Amino acid sequence: MKPKTNDTETTTLFQTLGRLGPFVKPYSGRLFGGFLSALAAGIVSLAIPQVMGELVNNVLHPGTPVSALWWVTAVVAVLGVLEAVFIYLRRVFVITPASLLEAEMRIGLFKHLQQLPVSFHDKWASGQLLSRSMGDLSHTRRWLAFGAIMFVVSGVTIVVGLVVMFSSSWILGLVYLVGAIPIMIRSFYFRNRFRRVSRLSQDQAGDLATNVEESVQGIRVLKAFGRGQEALDDFEARAMDLRETEITKAKTIASFLAVIVSVPELVLGIGLILGTWLVVQGELTVGGLVAFFATAAVLARPVENVGMLLGMTFATKTALDRYFDVFDATNTIVSPAAITASTGTSTASTATTSADSATAASDNPQLGEADRGTEAAASSLELENVTFAFADAPDAPILRSVDLSLRPGETMALVGPTGSGKSALCELIPRLYDVTGGRVLLDGVDVRELPLDTVRSRVAIAFEDSILFSSTVRDNVLLGAPARTDEALEEALNVAEAHFAKELPEGVDTMIGEQGLSLSGGQRQRLSLARTIAAKPSVLVLDDPLSALDVRTEEQVTENLRAALEGTTTLIVAHRPSTVVLADRVALLQDGTIQDVGTHEELLARSAAYRDVISSFEEAPTMEEIL
Ligand SMILES: Nc1ncnc2c1ncn2[C@@H]1O[C@H](COP(=O)(O)OP(=O)(O)OP(=O)(O)O)[C@@H](O)[C@H]1O
Ligand SMILES: [Mg+2]
Repeated sequence: MKPKTNDTETTTLFQTLGRLGPFVKPYSGRLFGGFLSALAAGIVSLAIPQVMGELVNNVLHPGTPVSALWWVTAVVAVLGVLEAVFIYLRRVFVITPASLLEAEMRIGLFKHLQQLPVSFHDKWASGQLLSRSMGDLSHTRRWLAFGAIMFVVSGVTIVVGLVVMFSSSWILGLVYLVGAIPIMIRSFYFRNRFRRVSRLSQDQAGDLATNVEESVQGIRVLKAFGRGQEALDDFEARAMDLRETEITKAKTIASFLAVIVSVPELVLGIGLILGTWLVVQGELTVGGLVAFFATAAVLARPVENVGMLLGMTFATKTALDRYFDVFDATNTIVSPAAITASTGTSTASTATTSADSATAASDNPQLGEADRGTEAAASSLELENVTFAFADAPDAPILRSVDLSLRPGETMALVGPTGSGKSALCELIPRLYDVTGGRVLLDGVDVRELPLDTVRSRVAIAFEDSILFSSTVRDNVLLGAPARTDEALEEALNVAEAHFAKELPEGVDTMIGEQGLSLSGGQRQRLSLARTIAAKPSVLVLDDPLSALDVRTEEQVTENLRAALEGTTTLIVAHRPSTVVLADRVALLQDGTIQDVGTHEELLARSAAYRDVISSFEEAPTMEEIL
């Protein structure tokens, strides 16, 4: 899916680079030191031609003793060493701040990505986020450490060099300046063209990264369905597109370089003819002519580089625009105080809501207290006239007028046909998505009026897909636990019937996940369930947590859960009658709304729709039934 990107053409170069200001500020001293060192190196390099001019005019005469050359040689040597020292100092000054800045920007982006709502991640391809947090930021670091400083220093060196040339001979100075004009015009066109191609290539590289990631994650599917060739063809087509763009980029640079290399050569030729004529006319000393050529030689590098550095500056703008595209994505799911702080407008309604929530929280002492670290008491959970539509289909609500009420400590099973919105409903409770209408209430308080941390620590959710991180079993299970103790781990593993974890090569300290031991689907699901149980929430949301287990294990887990869930308000999405039986009451979700709520027996007796859904759940017949 193509991610939404800002129209970067609307921001100017200085606006974008200006946004680096706050990041650069802490390091401005060192970066300025780097700039001064680079500038000093540039100025020293321009002094060397002057000394050479002196040498030719005042020292090199027939009969001059060789000893007279010593001091000139010494001055040139000292200047040379000074230039090297300044170049070294520039690196020393900038390397640390630039790499720190890169790391900070990367961490900042990661933090932002963590905070952005799930709906943002639904829209953005992971490869794009990867390339923005890696490639684009490395580019920015290189520009800060080298490009930006050298661009300014090259500009200053060129100006100072031209002044020196003009002061020794205005005609030669003029020739050099006239030669620089086509380079400047060329830079101007180069700038626009390079910016476009560079943006395209960065986007294509991002898409390619997504492609690699998807193919690696889905490697089993591709192999099993023999679609490797198609995946390869698709990858090849994208890789070739990127190659084309890179070639266009290289051609753009090449045609630019052709001008900035050939024009100075031409200028030198004309300068040689004119300069010799001026010397013959007596209007220029031989030393002056030597100094002109030596200065032109010194300026050759900055003149060649200045265009490239300009290109680098524009590519950095592109990289930063891509970074800020993500950084600017607004987080819509925030704590009430953060809403007021981030908008800076304490609107009457927000203020009232916060005040209400403060009152509501003080009425409910459970909600006002600190979050992790305490075992939460059971909460009531209500969905009040809830409507929900995904951001990409705002006109097709998945849930409509959903009313559901769970008493503290009650276990409610949620059943409904596939695609009816059960998972969506579950994800509304810990605010992974926000309702588009109505309210979700925890102990009578709208979850949007509670601090996000409070909601997330009171509600624990086990997802349909069990996601485990590359870490130990212990870390995975105790991810959200208030107390990271062995007892908590043991208890959670026991309830989830995940005893296998203790038999792993290094027990609960075995690495699992992508970089560790592979687990079966049922094992992953049990660890994910254990994680939810270990979080000791006051509201437990279990989205079909037992689907990958065999019937016997499922029965055992169900029994354990029945004991463990005592006193915990639980909403459990169920696909098997045995799980439904676990619940105090059952809610039937169909056609986007709750059709009926009651005990399993009540619903069986009065709801044809429920009987229909339940009959589709029926377990496979036993061998005796078949025979
Ligand atoms: N991120 C999303 N963006 C847009 N639509 C979505 C998104 N996620 C799910 N949907 C759609 O929302 C509907 C409800 O999905 P949901 O996952 O809640 O169903 P479910 O009842 O949990 O189904 P199942 O029993 O198969 O797990 C489906 O039609 C699905 O296509
Ligand atoms: Mg689901």
